[in-house]
Amino acid sequence: MTISTCVFDAYGTLFDVAGAARIAAAEPGQEVLATLWPRLAEDWRRKQLEYTWLRAITGDHVDFRQVTADGLDWAMEAAALSDPALRVRLMALYDELPAYAEVPAMLHGLKAKGFATAILSNGSPDMLASAVASAGLGADLDAVLSVESVGVFKPSGRVYDLVGGHFGTRPEQVLFVSSNGWDVCSAAGFGFQTAWVNRAGLPMDRLPAQPAHVLPDLTTIPQIAGAL
Ligand code: LAC
Repeated sequence: MTISTCVFDAYGTLFDVAGAARIAAAEPGQEVLATLWPRLAEDWRRKQLEYTWLRAITGDHVDFRQVTADGLDWAMEAAALSDPALRVRLMALYDELPAYAEVPAMLHGLKAKGFATAILSNGSPDMLASAVASAGLGADLDAVLSVESVGVFKPSGRVYDLVGGHFGTRPEQVLFVSSNGWDVCSAAGFGFQTAWVNRAGLPMDRLPAQPAHVLPDLTTIPQIAGAL
């Protein structure tokens, strides 16, 4: 076994980011949201990520809760939704996003095989702590690493460096797993072993490095980690 540590992106990889809009849309009085929540969720996520990249480039860092709120404000305005209570509800739901169904057993499988496990995320520590607790994942995670300790978002190398700083690992001893193509390509360029969870069947990102493994979901991660 050449790897010791399996590191996961959080949002979109372990947690279903569309869950907030989907859950809110099913609540009483949300008939308008029910007709347009997929578009709202997509706009919200895209703007949230764009703001992380732009702020990483310009050095204007704010935490992930702020870019998440900024992305939501853009998406709600684009959808002509002006509803302060809905905005509060959607932000609250972001703290209790559902984990994908296979996540608990997958993390448990990694721990049973002796791997260290961690999250490495743009999320601020309080957001990540809430989501991990809400999904009941804490017992099978050795660390929850947030970009807030370096004050810049992915794909800055300073973020990927947090793994070695915490675990004392070299990059090639780490399997990094993300559903975000740009994240996993950047992590491959950093030197991590990589797996892309491509749930949506998207094309590979055209970036300098590419992930070694492309998977439909997270189920086989313990086997892949054990075979590396
Ligand atoms: C994260 C974002 C990229 O969790 O999804 O870091």
